[in-house]
Amino acid sequence: MRELSRIREEFLKELSRVRDLKELRELRSRYLGPKGVIKELLKRIKELPKEERPAFGQLVNELKEFVEENLKKREEELSREELERKLRSEWVELTVPPGRSLGALHPVTIVLNRIVDIFKSMGFEVEEGPEVEREDYNFDMLNIPPEHPARDMQDTFYVNKEGYLLRTHTSPVQIRTMLKKKPPIQMVAPGKVYRRDDDPTHSPMFHQVEGLVVNEWANFRHMKHVLESFLRTFFGKDLPVRFRASYFPFTEPSAEVDIGCVICEQRGCRVCKGTGWLEVLGCGMVHPKVLENCGIDPEIYQGFAFGMGVERLAMLLFGIDNIKLFYENDLRFIKQFV
Ligand code: FA5
Ligand code: MG
Repeated sequence: MRELSRIREEFLKELSRVRDLKELRELRSRYLGPKGVIKELLKRIKELPKEERPAFGQLVNELKEFVEENLKKREEELSREELERKLRSEWVELTVPPGRSLGALHPVTIVLNRIVDIFKSMGFEVEEGPEVEREDYNFDMLNIPPEHPARDMQDTFYVNKEGYLLRTHTSPVQIRTMLKKKPPIQMVAPGKVYRRDDDPTHSPMFHQVEGLVVNEWANFRHMKHVLESFLRTFFGKDLPVRFRASYFPFTEPSAEVDIGCVICEQRGCRVCKGTGWLEVLGCGMVHPKVLENCGIDPEIYQGFAFGMGVERLAMLLFGIDNIKLFYENDLRFIKQFV
């Protein structure tokens, strides 16, 4: 009898130390299992005098019931605790609006879409060309002869297939479009371009939007009007704009367009290299030789073309002072444009 009550106390002590369902299962098998404490007690009945056996048997049964009951109670408690822990850890607040944690467009994509949408609203169609481009489309057909400095290994990334390169501008899409379509043509071509360039306003990969208009009456004044309207719509206000005489082998006459630097308000800074101006695009009247190369008669048709730097426009629109910020993927930067 003394031993039975010692076992009972020992059991309660062990039960109070049980922390989870796994420990409880272990305790159960130690007391009620085939080699458990209770089984061992029942085996010892034989050792007792006959008249004491029924009373002892009854006491062991009572102990067994006691153990079973307490195990069951503790099991219910532990299951409830574990369920609550699980519910707490898997809690989802369904009433929080998702917005902020969703993905967002990259600032360059936002600006690219904005540029293309403006030209679409002016009746331009969208064309595309490959980033790995034929060397003759990127240079020869655009009247850039083999000895032209733009072909220098310093500027161009060549690929290891004869006659191919990473396009250095979107102008080869002009050639592709003129070979494919008859005038009148009025298209824009957005995309990535590659050059061996690297400083606060030059990135080795950047985006351009090419534009091409070919018909019987296109002229320089028409081009100037299209580009000025575009810039006014893009910035939503009149920023200082200047057309500066320039040179491209594939246009004649040619110009480059500068926008007053918004970073320093034209006082002169690192971004505008102290000039107060940032170059955003090149443009001009399509060279007669380029039209001829594409089977278009320059005696009947004339055209104008332009190519703008998307990151440059994004820098001016958002007031960003280093082109590298677009490609570092720092969420603190990217999230500002959601
Ligand atoms: C051209 O690429 C000509 N194909 C543009 C053109 C098209 C002229 C059609 C006439 C007719 P340019 O190399 O200047 O020109 O580049 C055009 C614009 O791209 C620049 O004004 C500038 O805004 C941007 N740009 C040039 N190099 C980089 C660079 N490394 N990183 C970021 N933007 C650049
Ligand atoms: Mg230039």
